[in-house]
Amino acid sequence: MSEEKKVQNDILILGIESSCDETAASVVRNGREVLSNVIASQIELHTLYGGVVPEIASRKHIEKINQVIEEALDRAGVTLKDITAIAVTYGPGLVGALLVGVSAAKAISFATGIPLVGVHHIEGHISANFIENKELEPPFVCLVASGGHSHLVVVKDYGEYEIIGRTRDDAAGEAFDKVARAIGLGYPGGPKIDKLSKEGDPEAIRFPRARVEENPYDFSFSGLKSAVLNYLNGCRMKGETVEPKDVAASFQKAVIDVLVEHSLHGVKDYGLDKFAIAGGVASNSSLRETFLRECEKEHVKFYYPSPVFCTDNAAMIAVAGYYEYCKGVRSGYDLNAVPNLKLGER
Ligand code: KG4
Ligand code: ZN
Repeated sequence: MSEEKKVQNDILILGIESSCDETAASVVRNGREVLSNVIASQIELHTLYGGVVPEIASRKHIEKINQVIEEALDRAGVTLKDITAIAVTYGPGLVGALLVGVSAAKAISFATGIPLVGVHHIEGHISANFIENKELEPPFVCLVASGGHSHLVVVKDYGEYEIIGRTRDDAAGEAFDKVARAIGLGYPGGPKIDKLSKEGDPEAIRFPRARVEENPYDFSFSGLKSAVLNYLNGCRMKGETVEPKDVAASFQKAVIDVLVEHSLHGVKDYGLDKFAIAGGVASNSSLRETFLRECEKEHVKFYYPSPVFCTDNAAMIAVAGYYEYCKGVRSGYDLNAVPNLKLGER
């Protein structure tokens, strides 16, 4: 291995991710430097069915996993001998999909003796912020908005989290996907709504912004989704034409308004001055622009990962694994996939 790839005492983590529809592996040096980031996406395959089909996802992961891991090592210019620890997502996610990554990681660990560290998928998403923001350190508030989760989290320290807000029903990404399907855009909805919204008028239709009485940081998106569906049905019944671009832009604005308001409320209440975003929805261009503007107004430092580190990837798992490894966390060969794993649980 070349000298610049590893110097003595460097910690190289091999990250493995297979919780949903991306088979991914990555090598990260000292928790912050990505040496390789390989992602085999199955999106095209699932597009045929309008969403992720768990059985197909598992089968594709099995076909791809070894090749993806080998490629991650090759591109990083390292071999397994150089790897300090293997970090793998063990939950939450689709059980059959998770099992593929977990089994691969355990097999390599067993065969080589390289320590194994099980990583929480959401911890990975949050940790994606450390890759390009070398100066970012806890404490800060992080909004995690993905296809399966909408959490407002106080990151108290590395690996130490307090969830202060969560969704009562649909996740933000789920709402994007469902509305996209309703206006005929197909799967995955987020990027398509993002693109179409640029041509539409965000003020064209006033969709509701839901507040949850008991908790100012909680989210609820099912009412908004129903409002969009009702609007579309109403137009059809009255014979009015629907402008998908205006529906997309107005829906997107309603989601972003709520995410921004609740997040900045949390940042202020917890007396913090740093805020980060994570998860697939964090790659939304309008969401990023809005947070950039609003955080500046509120004198809050705003952090966000590049889009490739927002959606599922293994670099974020390697980064989270690095901090867990440094704290002494090790998983046994009994590590199992936990589809509904809670953040902060082991
Ligand atoms: O984090 P992620 O890749 O997977 C999960 O852990 O769920 O997030 C996927 C979600 C999908 O719902 C997708 O529609 C949404 O993130 N998404 C977006 C954008 N890109 C992906 N939502 C809004 N705008 C985007 N540009
Ligand atoms: Zn994810």
